[in-house]
Amino acid sequence: MKIIAGNWKMNGSRDALSNMITALRDVDTENTIILCVPYTMLGVESDRVHMGAQDVSAHDHGAFTGEISANMISDTGAKYVIVGHSERRAYHNETNDIVRQKATMALSNGLTPIICVGETMDEKQAGKTMEIIESGVRESVPTDATGNIIIAYEPRWAIGAGLTPTDTEIATAHKLIADTLTSMGLGGTPVLYGASVKGSNAAQIMSIPNVDGVLVGGASLKPDDFIPIITSVK
Ligand code: 13P
Repeated sequence: MKIIAGNWKMNGSRDALSNMITALRDVDTENTIILCVPYTMLGVESDRVHMGAQDVSAHDHGAFTGEISANMISDTGAKYVIVGHSERRAYHNETNDIVRQKATMALSNGLTPIICVGETMDEKQAGKTMEIIESGVRESVPTDATGNIIIAYEPRWAIGAGLTPTDTEIATAHKLIADTLTSMGLGGTPVLYGASVKGSNAAQIMSIPNVDGVLVGGASLKPDDFIPIITSVK
């Protein structure tokens, strides 16, 4: 059983979500399906699909115009929230420290944070991939996390680019993440792979050791693209 999570980013509509949920109703799978959608689309109920948000405030409540708290996300019925996505790190200067604060907020409000880590192209070319991944996990995961977390390894240079690392690169990264989590007392935490996952490469990627599922961007927007990813693995 794998975790198949979609990240709609700033795409879609309430109609599109309703169509997706209808399309997923009859899909024959035991995999866990999560859809992380814009805040305005949360509040939808489905037995099949777990809903999630894409970011959360590091603050509990108060005068923070435009921000959405973990409690508010939880109040919609959502169970998950992505934190530290590459695009938040790149366009909103989110550091590991901020990501950890957000993950802590999520946990204390009953949400499972999907904590993203991954290297940029510059970091990869400088030979720093392993260092960035390990520090990303050590510094972004709350020290008192009780295990109710998910990690997503998203090589930042491969997102939306149609590029994927080699199987060996994915295996090495996921082994490092699994070992790091074990050393933090969080062995067994699911680790997803994300970046340019599609129906044609999903099964192969999920056959790599320590890959417990995928976090899918563009190919999660339409049922015709997303369903083949969900059904590509048992
Ligand atoms: P793509 O699947 O579009 O490359 O996006 C991956 C991603 O950023 C998921 O969070």
